[in-house]
Amino acid sequence: MKFKIIIISFLCILTACTDNEVKHRIGVSQCSDDVWRSKQNAELTMESNFHEGVELIFATAYDDSRRQIQQIDSLVNIGIDLLIVAPNQVESISEVIDRTAESGIPVIVFERKTGSTKYTAFMSADNYELGFQMGRHIATLLQGKGNILEIIGLKGSSPAVERHNGFHDALKNNSEITIETLEGDWTEQTAHDAVKKHNPKDIDLVFGHNDRSALGARKAFEEILGTHDLPKFCGIDGLPGENGGIRLVRDSLLDASYIYPTRGDLLLKLAIDILENRPFEKETLLSSAIVTPENATVLYMESEELSQQFNRLELLHDKADSYLQQLSNQKFMTFLAAVVILLLLTIMAVVYKYWLQKERMKDERDKMARQQLDFYTEISHQLRTPLTLIEGPLSKLASSDEVRRLSNVNSEMFSVLCRNTARLSELINKILQVQTGKHTGMLSFTEVDEITVKNPQPTTTENPTENSTENPVSLLIVDDNADILTYLRTILRGSYQVHEASDGNEGLKVAEKEVPDLIISDIMMPVMDGLEFCRRIKENVITSHIPVILLTARSLDEHFVEGFKSGADAYITKPFSTGLLLARIENLLANRHLLRNIWETHTESPVDTMPTELAVDDKKELPSSPPPVEDAFIARFKKYVDDNLQDSELSVETIAADLGLSRVQLYRKIKALTGCTPVDLLRKARLAFGKNLLTTTTKSISEIAYEAGFTSPAYFTKCFKDEYGVAPGSFAAGK
Ligand code: FRU
Repeated sequence: MKFKIIIISFLCILTACTDNEVKHRIGVSQCSDDVWRSKQNAELTMESNFHEGVELIFATAYDDSRRQIQQIDSLVNIGIDLLIVAPNQVESISEVIDRTAESGIPVIVFERKTGSTKYTAFMSADNYELGFQMGRHIATLLQGKGNILEIIGLKGSSPAVERHNGFHDALKNNSEITIETLEGDWTEQTAHDAVKKHNPKDIDLVFGHNDRSALGARKAFEEILGTHDLPKFCGIDGLPGENGGIRLVRDSLLDASYIYPTRGDLLLKLAIDILENRPFEKETLLSSAIVTPENATVLYMESEELSQQFNRLELLHDKADSYLQQLSNQKFMTFLAAVVILLLLTIMAVVYKYWLQKERMKDERDKMARQQLDFYTEISHQLRTPLTLIEGPLSKLASSDEVRRLSNVNSEMFSVLCRNTARLSELINKILQVQTGKHTGMLSFTEVDEITVKNPQPTTTENPTENSTENPVSLLIVDDNADILTYLRTILRGSYQVHEASDGNEGLKVAEKEVPDLIISDIMMPVMDGLEFCRRIKENVITSHIPVILLTARSLDEHFVEGFKSGADAYITKPFSTGLLLARIENLLANRHLLRNIWETHTESPVDTMPTELAVDDKKELPSSPPPVEDAFIARFKKYVDDNLQDSELSVETIAADLGLSRVQLYRKIKALTGCTPVDLLRKARLAFGKNLLTTTTKSISEIAYEAGFTSPAYFTKCFKDEYGVAPGSFAAGK
């Protein structure tokens, strides 16, 4: 839609650029080339400026009828819409005028007549009347008596015939006037030559059919007679300008002239009316006037002024023309700029479309790669789980006495079993690596070698140091695979108290209830996956301190990151070796830096005393500080005890209830974080308080014992000795 609007605007600009289109092409065929014709052509041109889309094509035949015929034919061939013609002669041009009119081109005949009747309109002054009026004027000039020399115009041209007839008719009753006639052709030269050739005698007046003929005759007479006793000279045309008839009369070179109107303006208006189908006059007679020495000066002045106006108008038109040219140049530049902008916009649109397409394809590819990866991860999970269940028991068996006692053959078979299990594990890893690498081109599984068991070696699993029958270290295993649960239970139950759950949801419940020392969880499980489970464990104040090992077939780096983001403390990929798992469990438990004697080191914040690193011997373990939730919990616990220790009734139940935990939960959490039981900690707090009173007050031991919440001073003394190795009495005395 936007593009359509832009294109339409461009078309508008384009049409605006070409709006000086030709509407009317008009051919002007002049019979002669002289000042009279030049004036008329200039008038035609000037008038055309006032009409939109008019083109004028001029042709001049130089008084040659054959040439004029050819020129008219050429004009028709060019494709003119109208012909204006001044026929050189009446008959010779008739045929071509017929032809032109018949071809559908309107023809205006002007000033000279034609034998053709097919013309569209005719415009001229009345040449008979001109001849007649000039005859009457000459009769007056000669006072009815004298010899006249008439130099007629071109033979066969209508003005010559009509002027002659009019002239003779006007003088036919003057018996004392004689008229001698010489042939001319409208030119000065021919008239001059004719006079020179015939050398006429006793001529009183020369009448040239036009001013140029009269002037030519005058020059001839001057050559014959000198400047004295010259006859009178009269002509026709009465043109303005330096060599025009008006000035010749004013300067007494002629005795009279008759204005033969050019009226190019009227001629062009007539043409436009015809072309634009407006009503017009078929025959137009132009009025005229005689020029005599009496009016010549005024007429000359007026004509001069007119010609100046005409020149100004021409100048104005030229300026307007140049402005129009500039405007059209500007329009063209605007058009060009618009085209360039359109091109740029198109290029930008194409580039943007291409980019979008590429992005979409990239997204599509990424999506496919991810789907493929998920698919292989799923397969990997499916394959690695049973493999773990083969490798694990095998490795356990390998270290058993029964296997050591196997016969050579059976031992060899056992080795074959172990080797091929390892080989299978390696192959699965390779297949997954190749598949993933091939399709994504950039994703690759992380190294799993350290976890992959090349060949199960007999492992020695030492029992955890903290293990004791009284207070066994408890583990929670969360896995939806019953075999894995069984297998893990088998390998772990000797050393730990094992709790089990088959999905994250159940795992949360067990974890809250039992508050185990460590959790091992699978990631891909129904109901709630391991990542979500781990996140919830770490968010819950009851379980947040428990280290979590995520156990899964996922082996991509981004999956490890995902796992650690959920708060996991370690991440082990399947198939795993029993030895590695046990080592990892032990390692995590051993690295629980306990906050011992939180009252002894109360100047230190719990954060300072907490480990800054958990087990980092594996690259898949995240160095971590204890989460802020532990800081807050210990701080709350400590403050609560500090505020209430003087109350001898204060019990663990009350503390737990006030902190929002059950007694067991508080017990396990405090034990896990500090290595002490809440009761131990309460006692330590009371002793620290008492010790402080011993050193800062003069109170008696009994007073201090009761104040520190002990029910008997003897018990206070006993506990004090156990804690600090000295009796409170000696401690106070030694201060
Ligand atoms: C101009 C002219 C005039 C004359 C007229 C007659 O070409 O020769 O001088 O009056 O033509 O047609």
